[in-house]
Amino acid sequence: MTYENHRAASIKASPSMAIAMAAKKLRSEGRDIVDLSLGEPDFEPPAHVGEAACAAVHAGGIRYGASAGNETLRKAIAEKFKRDNGLDFTLDEITIGNGAKQILFDAFLATLEAGDEVIIPTPCWVSYGDIVSLHGGTPVYVDCGPETGFKITADILEKAITPRTRWLMLNSPSNPTGAIYSEAEYKSLERVLAGQPRVLVISDEIYEHILLGAQPFVSFGTVCPSLRDRTLIVNGVSKAYAMTGWRVGYAAGPKALIASLNKMQSQSVTSVCSVAQAARTGSAHRRPVLCD
Ligand SMILES: Cc1ncc(COP(=O)(O)O)c(C=O)c1O
Repeated sequence: MTYENHRAASIKASPSMAIAMAAKKLRSEGRDIVDLSLGEPDFEPPAHVGEAACAAVHAGGIRYGASAGNETLRKAIAEKFKRDNGLDFTLDEITIGNGAKQILFDAFLATLEAGDEVIIPTPCWVSYGDIVSLHGGTPVYVDCGPETGFKITADILEKAITPRTRWLMLNSPSNPTGAIYSEAEYKSLERVLAGQPRVLVISDEIYEHILLGAQPFVSFGTVCPSLRDRTLIVNGVSKAYAMTGWRVGYAAGPKALIASLNKMQSQSVTSVCSVAQAARTGSAHRRPVLCD
């Protein structure tokens, strides 16, 4: 008996999850395993995260939340974008999902037509391509080796774009290479994209605060304001606050795109766990986690 449709059958389960589960099993059998699969920070979340979650539970009123995410947390996220990236977003330009992964899911679900192409510079995070395929898109992997610092250049981008290109997937700092795009590198991509009005950009900035060297992080949104109406900045607290298990990510982008992501969320998971959102919103002292 075959249960899966062709889209489900065309992808594999997340390899990093599979490796992590195998490592967990071996560890439970007493083996000494160094697990390099999932991007799990090696520190604990700030103590007030747990305190805020407990306070929210004890206060009661944990009900369905807004599909866009709770307003207090969206305010904290708007403050974060202002403080860390110098970007101004209104609350209806921000959405909260069950991790950055779900934001990506919603974005491709909402926008891809069958056969639309998504340019993915490689090496890349293992899940991008399969999430694209699952939504009927075609991942177009472009090789970005050591000679370009594992980053896509204007030249590579120009050659990869076709009339079917819908998204360019950027990830800085990169999983797995740690590569960070400079302002000049983003500017050169901006020049190519200026002539490609159909192409949207996802900038996955989830590793913003996990920097391996001296190079500073800069947001694609900060460097390329001319592309604001075509850019979805994806981020989350999994890595910055070691809150991987709490499952909260967020994104900022054009109002109409965010509204569409909210619509996807309203028909799938309804909203993000209210306790998890409260944990990110603040401590008992009402200090927003994202504004530490
Ligand atoms: C590059 C990248 N983007 C997104 C995610 C997903 O993060 P989240 O836990 O917010 O779903 C990961 C997780 O490892 C990642 O490595």
